[in-house]
Amino acid sequence: MTAAPCGDAPGGGRYGEAVFRPEEAGEGERIDFGALAYDGITMARLRALGVGPGWRCLDVGAGTGTVSRRLLAEAGVASVLAVDRDVRFLSARPVPGLDVLESDITAPDFAPGRFRLVHARFVLMHLPGHDRLITALAELVAPGGVLVLSDAIDLTSDRTPGTPYSAVMRAMWQGLRATIGTDVSWVPSYPHLLRGAGLVSVAAEVHVPPLLPGSPISHFWADTWERSRVAMLATGLVDDAAVDAALRYLGSDECAALSAGMLSAWGWKPEEGPR
Ligand SMILES: C[S@@+](CC[C@H](N)C(=O)[O-])C[C@H]1O[C@@H](n2cnc3c(N)ncnc32)[C@H](O)[C@@H]1O
Repeated sequence: MTAAPCGDAPGGGRYGEAVFRPEEAGEGERIDFGALAYDGITMARLRALGVGPGWRCLDVGAGTGTVSRRLLAEAGVASVLAVDRDVRFLSARPVPGLDVLESDITAPDFAPGRFRLVHARFVLMHLPGHDRLITALAELVAPGGVLVLSDAIDLTSDRTPGTPYSAVMRAMWQGLRATIGTDVSWVPSYPHLLRGAGLVSVAAEVHVPPLLPGSPISHFWADTWERSRVAMLATGLVDDAAVDAALRYLGSDECAALSAGMLSAWGWKPEEGPR
């Protein structure tokens, strides 16, 4: 599929180009640190929703494929189609039952079939037109199936204590917004958006991993900050010294902060017509 839609970042950049380039050393490890922090929660939710033997699954923006492979190995699903704009990490670790498709999910002709589970984690927050994408992904859910979408929620507020951590987190969200269009402001609206896409029995939950020195989520943020350092500096909110101070703070026992969380929302496709 070849369509190349424009991002809605002010600079017109896209995920994987200006920032988070898959060809850069360590990008797969960065995604894996996020997976280490969140895979247990994701798998518990998917299992609680009944995902298991016989299910055909679609994992959108599958990254390194940790969830795709765990669906096969632990939940015993029939198959997983793992889609990503760049499949180098997926292709590097093939397993039986895992099919890999290199495709841009924002392309108007993205239509890989119908699935009992459609899952996307930390993908839609980086893409333009999230409401259209939610509708398009809901279309890919077979009757009786479930759409499960997870993205980050920013838990800083104007009363968050001023620490090196909070200054850099603010600069990160603003810098990513300006360079690749990342926007987490709408993520708390997921339940409403899923209902609007015609799904029923909609619900959501939030998980915030503990921000402890040396934890996977601390490694994930440290690596994410390094990769988005140029974008953060361009905001004018922080300088190199502030980023370095935040990295030291994150790795120290002084760290006393709240990580961004993961909101997971799900909704079911009615078997026949609206309930
Ligand atoms: C932050 S990673 C999340 C990976 C995985 N879902 C996880 O949670 O571990 C975002 C992934 O979405 C992919 N992605 C971004 N834009 C995409 C697009 N337009 N079409 C397909 N995949 C995309 C990226 O290549 C990357 O692998």
